[in-house]
Amino acid sequence: MTQRSGCEEPAVLPPPSPPPARFLGVSIAGVGSYLPTSTITNADLGQRVDTSDEWIVTRTGIRERRIAAPDQATSDLAVHAAREALAQARLSPADLDLVILATATPDTPVPPGSAWLHRHLGAVNAAAMDISAACSGFLFAMHTGAGLVRAEMHRNVLVVGAETLTRITDYTDRATCILFGDGAGAAVIGQKGYLELLYSHIGTDSSGRDLITVPAGGSREPASAATVEGKRHFLQLQGREVFRRAVETMTRAGQAALDSLGMKVSDLAWLVPHQANLRITQAVASQFDLPPERVVGDMSGTGNTSAASLPIALNRLQGSGRLKPGDRIMLVAFGAGLTWACQVYENTGVPR
Ligand SMILES: CC(C)(COP(=O)(O)OP(=O)(O)OC[C@H]1O[C@@H](n2cnc3c(N)ncnc32)[C@H](O)[C@@H]1OP(=O)(O)O)[C@@H](O)C(=O)NCCC(=O)NCCS
Repeated sequence: MTQRSGCEEPAVLPPPSPPPARFLGVSIAGVGSYLPTSTITNADLGQRVDTSDEWIVTRTGIRERRIAAPDQATSDLAVHAAREALAQARLSPADLDLVILATATPDTPVPPGSAWLHRHLGAVNAAAMDISAACSGFLFAMHTGAGLVRAEMHRNVLVVGAETLTRITDYTDRATCILFGDGAGAAVIGQKGYLELLYSHIGTDSSGRDLITVPAGGSREPASAATVEGKRHFLQLQGREVFRRAVETMTRAGQAALDSLGMKVSDLAWLVPHQANLRITQAVASQFDLPPERVVGDMSGTGNTSAASLPIALNRLQGSGRLKPGDRIMLVAFGAGLTWACQVYENTGVPR
């Protein structure tokens, strides 16, 4: 019988170890979303501007978008999404110690939109604040909330992305009015949940700050009769350049996440990019060589809901029953600023 030395190689090598997961001690415990009931179809837009259903569907993948009722402000949409996320997390509003609202369309510039949400929800034990990072807003808010949970400065954080973009859309401009819709999505995060955060990163490239703007209404160009007359309170965008930068930036942000985690694209079960334009999500998918069935491209009934787009898409993915235990999900956002963000989660399948 041969004596084995302590450092001898075993006859059968163990399988290669899985990519390092970096559980950060932060999880999503519940998600929710809300869409107003009224719609604006492509045919409706065809009555207002020189466009067609065929042009809009081919160029964007969008068929209709939701529009808030005249008496609904952003917080009125947000509160529905928030309640659904809280119910899934089995928490009550009083359990929250922080509410973060990501929006570019708050109920009022002052007080912050989050104060309205705080009131409607009855989150009496929570502080409330807004985050403004346009279409990347939800992930900027999740990044902030996750950092505070990780630092043990907050326990139960509600993050909501909610928008009433139809209030700042120019329905005489065919290049923008086809794109945007209203909606809300929410997530409750804390130390326990079923979607464990593995990675979170946010970024800004201010060289592109003029590509997507609402020029007036801030301190740079205060509201006046001339700004109203000049339609300078509406969204303006340089579509072709935004399209190019969106694909390039989301691809780069996603690749950086994979590199940092030591993961390959094949380790991802789902890619959920910001839902702005189906051609953008398809282009990002093809950069990653991902089959379409693993990429969520689900804006045909909503249009681009900016900060609400990712939690709405995540909630739909979860509600579809396609999310399996062990699935890794990448969320990647891009928006005005220019801002971008990426988070990766693992579905541990263990509810709170
Ligand atoms: C807006 C967008 C759909 C336009 O699609 P596009 O393929 O880039 O089209 P272009 O802007 O190059 O315009 C092509 C032609 O269609 C015309 N056009 C623009 N909007 C149109 C509409 N709704 N219906 C019919 N024609 C339209 C343009 O006037 C242009 O005509 P021209 O060639 O005679 O000048 C696309 O650029 C886009 O989705 N960009 C990203 C927007 C976005 O996601 N923003 C938010 C990011 S967070």
